[in-house]
Amino acid sequence: MSNDSTMKIFTVAFSLCLICSLLVSTAAVGLKSIQEDNKVKERKENILKAAGIYNEDKSVDELYKQIEPKVVDLGSGEYVDVDAAAYDQRKAAKDPASNIAITSEDDLAGIGQRAKYASVYLLKDGDKLKRVVLPLHGKGLWSTMYGFIALAPDFNTVKNFGFYEHAETPGLGGEVDNPNWKILWVDKKVYNEQGDPVIDVIKGNVSPTDPAAQYKVDGIAGATLTANGVENLVRYWLGKSGFGPYLKRLAAEGGV
Ligand SMILES: Cc1cc2nc3c(=O)[nH]c(=O)nc-3n(C[C@H](O)[C@H](O)[C@H](O)COP(=O)(O)O)c2cc1C
Repeated sequence: MSNDSTMKIFTVAFSLCLICSLLVSTAAVGLKSIQEDNKVKERKENILKAAGIYNEDKSVDELYKQIEPKVVDLGSGEYVDVDAAAYDQRKAAKDPASNIAITSEDDLAGIGQRAKYASVYLLKDGDKLKRVVLPLHGKGLWSTMYGFIALAPDFNTVKNFGFYEHAETPGLGGEVDNPNWKILWVDKKVYNEQGDPVIDVIKGNVSPTDPAAQYKVDGIAGATLTANGVENLVRYWLGKSGFGPYLKRLAAEGGV
């Protein structure tokens, strides 16, 4: 066939497309299991970071043996007999068979619906509970932010807090990732004496002489809308429609 023939141009273009699509699909299928493994590893790493025991010199799987994952029915606060390692709360939140709609007046986190069951991660020292790590998510300004909060065994004191996924603006809302901001959460209290979540991300800086300083966290300059989203999602997830019943039960039963 001559190089100028229309037939040859189409044959070469078609063959090239076929070879490239074969290469891409082979790579996608061949690498799928590695991608899945990496996703699981990344999730474990985030949980270890929230629990405060991540160490980059140690194997994630080895460190993760200290974590006891469980699945909780958020309505009753009781554990349910579901394989915690396989449970995917984000997937369950999208499935009408496993989610519930959140009424607009209850929907502080701006998420519309949530899974009926939630994953929780316990860090224990022998039989003694050291940390409970809870997943939470909610709307910032531009994106849904996903993170973990770790509470001390009083189920009120924050020991760690951070997001592992969001799309807020770097330098503005993205400052939720700034270690200097995240550290401001450590040792803050979530609940007032009546047991209501009152944690407050204020505009500006918390005065050390403020009698309610233990419930307040400095805002993020130029990113009040993201900061409000953070406050709201923490209040939602630690409130009566989120982990409230579970944490109350743990407190009543001595943290088991
Ligand atoms: C391009 C652009 C990106 C912005 N990104 C964010 C953001 O990620 N989070 C946020 O709270 N505000 C963001 N803002 C600012 C908000 O519109 C708003 O002004 C701000 O949240 C108010 O906070 P302030 O009262 O602390 O200034 C952005 C503004 C612009 C122009």
